[in-house]
Amino acid sequence: MAIFIPEDKLAEIRHTADIVDIISERVVLKKAGKDYVGLCPFHSEKTPSFTVSQTKQIYHCFGCGAGGDVFSFLMKHEGISFAEAVDSLARRYGIDLPTRKMTPAQKTRLSERQRLFDINRQVMEFFQSRLADRTSGQTARAYLKKRGMRPDVIDAFSLGYAPDGWDALIHFLNKKQIPLSLAEKIGLIIPKENNGYYDRFRNRIMFPIFDVTRQVIGFGGRVMDDSKPKYLNSPETPLFNKSRSLYGVHAARDKCRETGMVYIVEGYFDVIALHQHGFCNAVATLGTSLTAEHVRLLKRGFAKKAVLVFDPDPAGIRAAHRAVSLFINEGVDAAVLVLTDGYDPDTYLFEFGAEAFERASAGALPMMTFLTESAIKTHGLSIEGKVRIISEMEEPLACIEDKVTRSIYVRDLSERLNVEESAVMERVQTAAARRKKTASEPFFEKQMASALSSEPMPSDAVRFEKRILSMMLGYPEILPEVEKSGALNYFSDPRLVRMANLILRHAQSGKGDLPELMNRMEEEEDRGIVASLAMNQESWDRKGCLGLLSQFVQSRTRRQDTLVAQIKAAEASHNHDLLVHLLKEKQQRAINRH
Ligand code: GTP
Ligand code: MN
Repeated sequence: MAIFIPEDKLAEIRHTADIVDIISERVVLKKAGKDYVGLCPFHSEKTPSFTVSQTKQIYHCFGCGAGGDVFSFLMKHEGISFAEAVDSLARRYGIDLPTRKMTPAQKTRLSERQRLFDINRQVMEFFQSRLADRTSGQTARAYLKKRGMRPDVIDAFSLGYAPDGWDALIHFLNKKQIPLSLAEKIGLIIPKENNGYYDRFRNRIMFPIFDVTRQVIGFGGRVMDDSKPKYLNSPETPLFNKSRSLYGVHAARDKCRETGMVYIVEGYFDVIALHQHGFCNAVATLGTSLTAEHVRLLKRGFAKKAVLVFDPDPAGIRAAHRAVSLFINEGVDAAVLVLTDGYDPDTYLFEFGAEAFERASAGALPMMTFLTESAIKTHGLSIEGKVRIISEMEEPLACIEDKVTRSIYVRDLSERLNVEESAVMERVQTAAARRKKTASEPFFEKQMASALSSEPMPSDAVRFEKRILSMMLGYPEILPEVEKSGALNYFSDPRLVRMANLILRHAQSGKGDLPELMNRMEEEEDRGIVASLAMNQESWDRKGCLGLLSQFVQSRTRRQDTLVAQIKAAEASHNHDLLVHLLKEKQQRAINRH
């Protein structure tokens, strides 16, 4: 049951908990002028761009754009929900939180997001009840038993069963009066071509996927025979982002913190089998490759050391190649554990037992060593072999951003192969330069394109709009004028319009303060933008504000006039293509305004 936290309690906590105190317990901060700075905990950096403002009670990183108030800092840093962040601060400062059950009126006010989580949870419980059902769950229970799953573990992972047929879940949703359009949004059902829907998951063992705060973000489903596809996962939805989520985090966190180590495996069953054998610190990717976001999530709230369990096949080695720089660049120790050929953690544990797995895991090789050794195994140590090994290792070495770290790995490799260190270094540096070039090309092209066009660069427009927002935050007295001027109608960036309107509404409700405004923003990115704009130290006065406003409106009306004139000219000269293009542009501007 979600808890309802009254506004006045939030305000009380916010006024008691100093953001500088809370953050400096987790990040080393140094005073710099009015603010505090330190190394950002949310991305890797060598020079501090993470800034905390005591007067404004917000933080912002100029490097990665993260930003927010004390609650959102804790949410992001510890990987917890808003309610958990509130709760932990309340407890720490001895503030009583009344946790009442919600009335129906409060429930309708619940954000849609919370509502979607709620639907997922009800659906999870439906699948669980189907698994427990004597007749409908029989085959599924037999399947899990055959795979050695203990009832307590089935329970801990809330496994379930999606019945056969096309509408078992739809019946349930209708019975519970859950709108099918919402169920579609989170990928539970699929629209038919004509009308109506059908169940996405049919006759499958269901694995609910949780985030760290135990909210159900999606599902995976496995068939019980050899039919294809073996696994079906929820699609990307507002709740479910595969490149940011890992299976098993809810069950792994405590053990990860206790041991300082996390196992990263490939399958759902692997996580569960590890758990059942006492290795609760295990998570799995969701059928996609590991991303920097995954690594950061783990580093932040779980463990500083990871053991990756990959298959020893070429695909596994390719995956290790891709993963190595992610870990090195985030400063997370990683080792690779390769099990006996043909086994994954699940089959290995059931055949050889926990002790054997423990021993194998003690022999896991540091990632770069693993890559070197597997390359040696493939190519041998002949001269041609060494040449191939070096070109294979070039790429992962070039991905290491820190030059000192890179040179240490280069030395290791040259010693292992007994070749000249400077020769290897030269190859790696060339590869690194090549990478840098390809990485920056799209940006360069974009700049060229906008330099060639007669329109002002879009980023210029956005910069102007951001400046207006910054002014609205820094000098709230001007808000009525902003509204009167109609400036927002000319904004080109829909996100900024949305934020500006929120600022206006927030001010009208009589609450000026910034952290409170941020709390109203659902999207983390929005909070980051507001934090960066609010950090702007420009001092505003009424005259300056009015000047900026009218300058903005004038420049936009001019642009509009030019467009109208161009359209007329195109009509007159019967230039059809140009006309269509210009009309589209006009339409787009109109859309952006709404
Ligand atoms: P079991 O065969 O049940 O032991 O599963 P496994 O976890 O060992 O499967 P496997 O090693 O084949 O796959 C590992 C992971 O890749 C799974 O847990 C899924 O997340 C994903 N995966 C496997 N097969 C499919 C598929 O057919 N479709 C999708 N979308 N994902 C899959
Ligand atoms: Mn398996």
